Amino acid sequence: MAKEMVGPPPWTDVGRHGVFPDGTHDEIARFNFLASLNVHIQTKVFPGNRLAYEKRVLPRFQAEHGREPQTRHELRPYMEDDGYWQTWSSLRRSYMEMRQENGRAMVLRQIDELNAKARALNEGDPNLELDPDLEVPRYLTGVDTHCMPGSYYTEVTDDDVSAAANYDCGIFATTGGLLGRYNDGGGRAMVAWIRANAPDLRPTRILDMGCGLGHNTVPLAKLFPEAEIIALDVAAPMLRYGHATAKSMGVTNIRFIQENCERTRFPDGHFDLIVTAQFWHETSRKALPALLREIHRLMAPGGLHLSLEQPHYRGMPAYDALIRDWDAHYNNEPFWTTLHDMNMVDEMVKAGFRPEDCFETTFVGQIERDFAKDDGMDGGKDFGRGGQWYGFGSRKAA
Ligand SMILES: C[S@@+](CC[C@H](N)C(=O)[O-])C[C@H]1O[C@@H](n2cnc3c(N)ncnc32)[C@H](O)[C@@H]1O
Repeated sequence: MAKEMVGPPPWTDVGRHGVFPDGTHDEIARFNFLASLNVHIQTKVFPGNRLAYEKRVLPRFQAEHGREPQTRHELRPYMEDDGYWQTWSSLRRSYMEMRQENGRAMVLRQIDELNAKARALNEGDPNLELDPDLEVPRYLTGVDTHCMPGSYYTEVTDDDVSAAANYDCGIFATTGGLLGRYNDGGGRAMVAWIRANAPDLRPTRILDMGCGLGHNTVPLAKLFPEAEIIALDVAAPMLRYGHATAKSMGVTNIRFIQENCERTRFPDGHFDLIVTAQFWHETSRKALPALLREIHRLMAPGGLHLSLEQPHYRGMPAYDALIRDWDAHYNNEPFWTTLHDMNMVDEMVKAGFRPEDCFETTFVGQIERDFAKDDGMDGGKDFGRGGQWYGFGSRKAA
């Protein structure tokens, strides 16, 4: 019997919408190569790190300390000294840079067309509100987040959507399709959680903090078509592209607003449901408590807050935490390492929630069955990168 083909879905299977970039033959071939290279690095090259650890790094550490490493911090210099780790790590970093180069070049080639398509959908629409005077926080301007040139907020032309278009056209290559055809697996996972755990929830006003280009906002807007969804971000290119995308897909109950979520314009108790997706690891030690206090202030009595994030390191063996921490050290995610050592229930309590109203949970990925192939990346177990996510949240007594 012929063996079923395995591997990430081809770029041409990614969901299209009204502002999605077009690809030339070579750009598509590069993305397909990159998606397969990523799978190869993670499934064929990556496991050798465990061998390097067990055969060389651990014995050396034990010889010097008479015990196993207790933390990723003390393990790091030993692992970084090993040639195998260095090879895997530099391959992974090069892959990240190549993914950005391909996406950025593809988008800049057609920037005028993309901006015009977005402008046609955005112009005069009250559901898009930008604030050119908004100061982007230093924790976002200080680095090119995950090697993305100019990060989320940089504008190189008028009405620029390039940062968002680059994010959108390449994300399937970094995830191997595990986020689904429209990269909305996180939002769909939150929808599934709400259906299972809060079936009576009927929010009239929903807030998505740090919405980016709205991938994960759209499933909530579809679940609650009667609700008004406020999607906030500091990055104008994300909001322009996000609004145009949602509108081109017929989703018109989301208002995309450029605002810093640390201090929003909305009155106390304004929202029945507040969500974040992959947001906290791109904030800062100082911003995080302010953001949680803002969630507490904005939440209506009887309301619910849900946050979908990467998993914390609590109870994780030093080796696994070191692997998980790769992005903090080599992929421009400076707050990642601090966040994953924090206890978010403690943080929510400090922000004003009662301990009994706070919880941790798991969000299980929901994507089209025919989309992601069995690529060997094991999405179900790759906790935090597509198959399932760590979650935390809080409620306010009615
Ligand atoms: C990793 S992206 C996640 C985007 C989106 N939630 C998703 O799931 O695709 C994080 C986003 O948070 C935004 N962000 C970070 N800090 C913010 C703040 N204080 N106020 C508003 N947006 C913020 C960034 O601009 C970025 O678009």
